[in-house]
Amino acid sequence: MKNLVQTSLLTLVVSLGLNSCITETKSADDLKLIPYPNEVTIGRGFSKCKTPFSIVTNGVTDSLFNDYLQSSGLIGTQGSPLAFVKDTTLQMGAEQYELNIGKDKVTITATGDAGLFYGFQTLLQLVQTEDKLPVLTISDSPRFDYRGMHLDVSRHFYSTDFIKKQLDLMAFYKMNYFHWHLTDGAGWRLEIKKYPLLTDVAAWRPYATWKDWWKGGNKYCSKDTPGAQGGYYTQEEAKEIVAYAAQRHIIVVPEIELPAHSEEVLAVYPELSCTGEPYKHADFCVGNEKTFEFLQDVFDEVISIFPSELVHLGGDEAGKGAWKKCPKCQKRMKDNNLKDVDELQSYMIGRMGQYLMSKGKTFIGWDEILEGGLAEGAVVMSWRGEEGGIKSVKMGHRAIMTPGGYCYFDAYQKEPSTQPEAIGGYLPVEKVYSYNPVPDSLTTEEAKLIMGVQGNVWTEYIPTAEHAEYMIHPRMEALAEVAWNKVEKKSWENFKPRINKHIQLLQERGVNVCTLSPDVVVTQIPDTLKQCMRVEMKTDLYPAEIRYTLDGSTPDKNSLLYTEPLEISERTNLTTVVYQADAPAATPQTKEIFWNKAIGKKLTYNTNYSGQYPAGGDKALNNGLYGGFGYGDGRWQGFLKDMDVIVDMGEPTEIHRVKGRFMQIIGPWVWLPMFVEIQISDDGENFTTIQKDMNPVSEDEDGVIFRDFGFEGDVNARYVRYFAKYNGKGFLFIDELVID
Ligand code: ACM
Repeated sequence: MKNLVQTSLLTLVVSLGLNSCITETKSADDLKLIPYPNEVTIGRGFSKCKTPFSIVTNGVTDSLFNDYLQSSGLIGTQGSPLAFVKDTTLQMGAEQYELNIGKDKVTITATGDAGLFYGFQTLLQLVQTEDKLPVLTISDSPRFDYRGMHLDVSRHFYSTDFIKKQLDLMAFYKMNYFHWHLTDGAGWRLEIKKYPLLTDVAAWRPYATWKDWWKGGNKYCSKDTPGAQGGYYTQEEAKEIVAYAAQRHIIVVPEIELPAHSEEVLAVYPELSCTGEPYKHADFCVGNEKTFEFLQDVFDEVISIFPSELVHLGGDEAGKGAWKKCPKCQKRMKDNNLKDVDELQSYMIGRMGQYLMSKGKTFIGWDEILEGGLAEGAVVMSWRGEEGGIKSVKMGHRAIMTPGGYCYFDAYQKEPSTQPEAIGGYLPVEKVYSYNPVPDSLTTEEAKLIMGVQGNVWTEYIPTAEHAEYMIHPRMEALAEVAWNKVEKKSWENFKPRINKHIQLLQERGVNVCTLSPDVVVTQIPDTLKQCMRVEMKTDLYPAEIRYTLDGSTPDKNSLLYTEPLEISERTNLTTVVYQADAPAATPQTKEIFWNKAIGKKLTYNTNYSGQYPAGGDKALNNGLYGGFGYGDGRWQGFLKDMDVIVDMGEPTEIHRVKGRFMQIIGPWVWLPMFVEIQISDDGENFTTIQKDMNPVSEDEDGVIFRDFGFEGDVNARYVRYFAKYNGKGFLFIDELVID
């Protein structure tokens, strides 16, 4: 593969015409750097230096780094002077650097290669984003030591070229850990010489996509089967990735899943499962010594490939069911005084963790490893929210934050109906950006145990490299700033112009980046005193303005300009559009804004919502705040049974419409109700049915489906009963309940 840094820079080298005569001064706020440096001191005017640079002082000792510099496209034999000054006596962290752009010379100073590398990345970004290099000094260092990106290559396999391209991009944004999820039920992806069936069979399946494979019964096939799909990395290829990453100051953390997510291993080595039958198990048998022999052998080979001190051994989502009936597992529990299967899992993690520690490694596990007792020395990767991370640091263990709500890049990032199918959830770039990996509840000492943050790319619904790239960017760029910048330095408004610029840059570089939505985001907040909706409008585009109308007409560039929130009490059709450079960025969107008469009225729950998705409790359904594109946004209320709620309007009320909005996303087990029945009553006891709204949508329908269930007509009543029939599986999610 062509070096991407090189390809993109060669064009820029030509275009970077630098004019020494101009004396105006650049504003620090205008620099389009991601992550934005800690400290920028702008000098007067612009530098005479221009690309290519020639290295006049070379403190870089690492030959790989020197090769990287030579291949960067920025370095020539004759050019403006660039000094890499390594000074080990300075009071600077290992990744800290100072970049000085003078009139006649550029100097990067650090105590070692890592700092020099990051200073060089900042210079690269300046070269790519500025017409003329401003005279300046940048002092910079990261907030967190661990700035990670994860990639699941089991559900779908991606080429080493693709991985190298992502490593280039990670380096450009100063990310430094690549968590390589190499094994999972959908395919084993690393050559292990001692166990050839892992790559002769367990790496292959008769279906290209995870979804077809899943529907087709989760079967594997021999690599020689015509049409076999999948693949694996040879040890040589994995080493090549490790070296390529190392050259970019990225550490590759391998993950080998245990005790669960191991269907592929147990299909080809069924003797490692509790009953010894293939295609029956996801969890290794913990009672069988052969399991430990196998895993130790595997880790021996893994360690010989990956020099990383950190090694990930999975630990998530074990079913543990077979262990309860397995004589070997039961014996193991008895012999070791383990009181339940959680402790049995903990035994296994602890034993494998000890093994890794005996080899000089530190092990990471997903937060389930807390259950049954956290093994000595474990680092916890917190994914089911932040609780696991918080618990770990309070126990004195280190943690890495990857909570699903902020760090799972398999969720939708724009309006789902406009997007390729995703697993579900909604994680726009602004939400990633808003994340702070150190929860407020931690003390200063506990906070020090948060090593950092990571973006996870699970790939069940991501069959191609192009698609994976689309899911990663620009969320990774937002996360890069979460990982590098101090909280007080972060501002979405400040990030917006920079990410807009970088999306353009990524596109020029051939990256299939998801562009920002050109639609206006309209948010309604009820004002119960004034009985009106406060309407806020936002756009991610920059520079841009929002134009709108309230009379049903199509807005143009002379329509009302949005500058502050509107207050709307009468039913209004709000039509909005974003303008950029006097042209609409998208087709106008219309939204009906009205006061929901149910807001604040007393609700009586005849059935309870789930404790997992309360959305704030008894007032969530009629608080006037509408649930967004993802059920996890704290507004959607979840039910694991029929939903049955009575609204007391307080007095007999004219009712023209009753509706509740539900969603269906079958990946995470979210279905529409089978039907909704609406009843009314004057006394709250005797109810009459006014509508039974049947669900016309198939249970197998893919994608994200939103549907309003309800009634339209003319009735008068004080009480409205809203009943939604549960289909017997998964979740029902509803918001908002509207009466009009
Ligand atoms: C996970 O998402 N199962 C760690």
